[in-house]
Parts: sequence; structure tokens; C-alpha cells
Amino acid sequence: MNQSKDKYTVLVTGGAGFIGSNLCEYFLGIGHKVVCLDNFATGHRHNITPFLVNPNFTFIEGDIRDLSTCQKAVDGVDYVLHQAALGSVPRSIQDPITSNDVNVSGFLNMLVAARDAGVKRFVYAASSSTYGDSAALPKVEDVIGKPLSPYAVTKYVNELYAEIFSRTYGMETIGLRYFNVFGKRQDPNGAYAAVIPKFVMQLMQHESPVINGDGLFSRDFTYIDNVVQINELALLTTHPKAVNTVYNTAFGDRTTLNQMVHLLRDYLAVYDPMIADVPIVYGPPRVGDIPHSLASVEKANRLLGYQPTFSFADGLKEAVDWYWNNLK
Ligand SMILES: NC(=O)c1ccc[n+]([C@@H]2O[C@H](COP(=O)([O-])OP(=O)(O)OC[C@H]3O[C@@H](n4cnc5c(N)ncnc54)[C@H](O)[C@@H]3O)[C@@H](O)[C@H]2O)c1
Repeated sequence: MNQSKDKYTVLVTGGAGFIGSNLCEYFLGIGHKVVCLDNFATGHRHNITPFLVNPNFTFIEGDIRDLSTCQKAVDGVDYVLHQAALGSVPRSIQDPITSNDVNVSGFLNMLVAARDAGVKRFVYAASSSTYGDSAALPKVEDVIGKPLSPYAVTKYVNELYAEIFSRTYGMETIGLRYFNVFGKRQDPNGAYAAVIPKFVMQLMQHESPVINGDGLFSRDFTYIDNVVQINELALLTTHPKAVNTVYNTAFGDRTTLNQMVHLLRDYLAVYDPMIADVPIVYGPPRVGDIPHSLASVEKANRLLGYQPTFSFADGLKEAVDWYWNNLK
């Protein structure tokens, strides 16, 4: 979907990461110019290597904690899709200072740089972690609880700053509260890898995945193509009530960890039947984990026209195919 025939330039911060590289690929694919800013803290050069030959792609290696780098990156840019951050709840519990520096100070640098450059709109990666200890389901944007981790604090502070920049400086911002995004190029490696790619890699190697807790926690797992769709809608919406607010970015259904791992095993067993017999192991629950997560996507549908096209099962199949064909 490309709502506009006009060509524009979009800055994707964190563009060498999972979500950012998918955004770069999409916007380049429909003919726009893309500037990518990344310091490879958790992203990878190989995620952007195919784009480097595209004359519409510019890569800036740099850190959002440095204001002058942010100012350089926004120069001549129409829109910002701000993805750069240190993800992972456990990482933020381990090292709250670095998470805060990147996710809060870096975010503020980007807001200031975007404001001064007069960008048309600043769309940023918010997080479902902002719902914190609220037990209400489904999650609706106006009802949040107390944050359960330093990471959640940083993502909530992003929303507060964005709102203040909208009110104080008249800057257009939209926050997208991502719910457990998964899909191609999500990093399976490292101590803070997300659960789906980590389990895919373990199962492909016939190693048992370890579920924290009893596996009855649930998540609104969201396939990357749905996330790309809502980013474009947020970038281009002309609905006056659609800006300066936040949206749940999810499919709008929930899957338990047990259901997820069994489906994963079934899909992988199509490639390698021995995977069907790899046992699932259960470990202690993790600090800071929210028990259940399910989004209402009604607001995004009503104001942005968001209609997620990939269910969890459909997306998981795509992701498994990609991991098998690229990382096995
Ligand atoms: N993946 C999810 O399920 C999920 C859920 C909620 C929110 N988010 C948010 O979405 C965004 C993208 O997440 P992702 O899953 O693609 O993670 P990712 O780690 O793959 O991507 C983040 C990117 O930001 C870059 N980065 C980190 N610190 C930087 C710095 N100081 N300067 C410049 N670049 C820096 C990393 O190198 C990486 O390429 C993040 O803001 C994250 O908090 C993700």
C-alpha cells in the first residue's frame, strides 16, 4: 500500500535492527528515499547490506546519544520513524543507566533534532510494556498501569515527551505501542534475544526451548508486516484526530507460550520431522514479565484504517520459512 505518489525521505533510526530494517526495505521498495541511523548496538550490518547499493539509501553510523549525530541524520528528512532503542526488560533490569541513556536521552535528542529540522511527523516505537501492572484486557490506549521494569519506564517517558513536544512546539508525533513483534531478521542470538527467534534456533538445533513459568502467560504476538503497515499509515494519515496520540500495534488476539511453542514445533517439523520430538522444558518465571497481553486495535482501525493482515499463525509460518531458509 502506498497512499501517496509523492516521493519523500524518511529517516529510520535503528534501521539496522529487526523492525527498522524491515521498514527500510519497505520504504525503499516503494521508491522513497531512506536514511538509516544506527550504531550497531544490537543491530547488524548484514541487515542493511542489500540496501547499500540502492541510490535511495543513505546509511549514517552513529549514536542517538549524540545530539549532533541526530541533527545530521534529520537534515533534509520529511518523516522520522524512530526505532533506535535498547529493547528487552531483562537488559534494563541488568543495566538501567544505559537503557535510560539510549531510550530516554537519545529519544529526547531525536525529538529536539526533528523539531529544529521541521520534520513533518515523528512516528516512534512505543511499547506494550507501558500497560505495566494493569490487569485490564484487552488493553485500550487510555488505561495503563504502573511500569514493571526500567525498560517500561523509558518507553512511557517517550510518550510523555512526545506529547509535550506536540503541545509545546506544535510538532506532530504518533507513538506505536508495539506488542511482541516477530518476523524475519529478528535476532535469535544473545542473552536478550526475543522468545520466538530464540526458540526457532534452539528447535532447529534439536535443543529444548525453556519456557519461563508454566507456559500459560499469553501474548498478542504481532507479525512484522502488520507493524510496517501501521507505520506507513501513521506517517501519512491526514485525519486531524489521528496525530499526537498513541496506538496499540498488534493483531488483536492472544496466544499462550505453550500454544506458541507447539505451533512452532509443528511448523519446523515440516522441514525436519525429528523436531517434533524435541521436549519443551519449563523454568522459573521471570521478574518484570506481564502475565497477559492482548490489545484492542479498535483505535488504530478507526483513526488510521489499520487492518492487520497476518494472524499469529500466518505470520509464524512466514517467519519459520525465513529462518529455515536463511539461518539453518
Ligand atoms: N520487537 C518488539 O517486540 C518490540 C516491542 C515493543 C517495542 N519495541 C521497540 O521497537 C524498536 C525496535 O526494536 P527491535 O525489536 O527492532 O530491536 P533491535 O534491537 O533489533 O533494533 C534496535 C536498533 O536500534 C539500534 N540502536 C540501539 N541503540 C542505539 C543508539 N544509541 N544509537 C543508534 N542506534 C541504536 C540498534 O543497533 C538496533 O539496530 C525499539 O524502540 C524497541 O524498544 C520492540
